[in-house]
Amino acid sequence: MLVILLQLVITLASYGTVGDYMQCPAVQSTTRTPECLHFSSKTQGNNHISQGFGKRIPKPTGTGNECSHNLSHWLWHETEHFRTWAMNSTFVTGVRDGTLHPTSFGIFMLQDAIFCLEMSKSFQVAANQLSDGSLKSLLEHEVKSYKRCGDELLTQWHIRNAPAIVVGAECQEYIDNHVNATRDEHPIYGIVAAIPCLRLWPWIGQQINLQNHQYGVYTDWVNYNFDPTYDGYKKLEVMTNEFYAKGLIDKDKALHYYAKSIEGEAAFFDSVKP
Ligand SMILES: *[C@@H]1O[C@H](CO)[C@@H](O)[C@H](O)[C@H]1NC(C)=O
Ligand SMILES: *[C@@H]1O[C@H](CO)[C@@H](O)[C@H](O)[C@H]1NC(C)=O
Ligand SMILES: *[C@@H]1O[C@H](CO)[C@@H](O)[C@H](O)[C@H]1NC(C)=O
Repeated sequence: MLVILLQLVITLASYGTVGDYMQCPAVQSTTRTPECLHFSSKTQGNNHISQGFGKRIPKPTGTGNECSHNLSHWLWHETEHFRTWAMNSTFVTGVRDGTLHPTSFGIFMLQDAIFCLEMSKSFQVAANQLSDGSLKSLLEHEVKSYKRCGDELLTQWHIRNAPAIVVGAECQEYIDNHVNATRDEHPIYGIVAAIPCLRLWPWIGQQINLQNHQYGVYTDWVNYNFDPTYDGYKKLEVMTNEFYAKGLIDKDKALHYYAKSIEGEAAFFDSVKP
């Protein structure tokens, strides 16, 4: 009963309107953060959860009863140095100071379109492994919002054929990390590896919060995309923490994918010329 209620809460929380974020689709959320869940020792593993896992799902590696550990908080804390790098990257400092070369801005946006479209496909791979449940709903929500993000960028930049765009090594590696996670791991890792994208951008917005929010020619772009009030990442964190409490996530494996994602953000931001 508790599980059913929680799934209802999660499902309800995963509905919301999708904004037009560029790299990281905004998901306006009304997320409530449930208290850390306490499952009895009998409920280790995934046999009590009706997430509709298919045959291809790898065996969960967590041990259960890990409530004391706030996984999403820990992941964010452990990867602080990549945030510092992102803040100091050519793209972020360039748009902050209004000095980024317009060609570099364009090169980033074009790759970002591919990033969104490839992420959408990768989320679909994870969603396809589930027959129903709140995780499948959340993954499919991300499939749609990333697809929309990619399509909008292509439209804005007058691109008909996405494959014509050349993606740099940094962006490709960032994509590959998510693709690997959804190919090799339990579908929840597709959510874990997506948190950095959604959480880093509003954090950058908080850090560069200049007076009057003026960023030269990039003022509109920065205020819209680095919106410090955006909290759409929270529902991904809530689901991550719930799956961790159920023993379905191994924290070191989670850190591996999470760290590669946040490193991917920084490296991608730093891959363009000033
Ligand atoms: C985890 O920590 C964050 C702060 O980083 C807090 O907002 C959230 O409520 C915590 N979650 C749990 C389940 O304790
Ligand atoms: C940021 O980059 C500048 C120039 O590349 C460098 O001098 C500085 O040490 C860097 N700061 C941090 C915090 O990484
Ligand atoms: C993805 O997995 C392949 C092995 O299939 C590996 O060679 C590659 O380094 C991985 N990429 C990332 C970014 O982890």
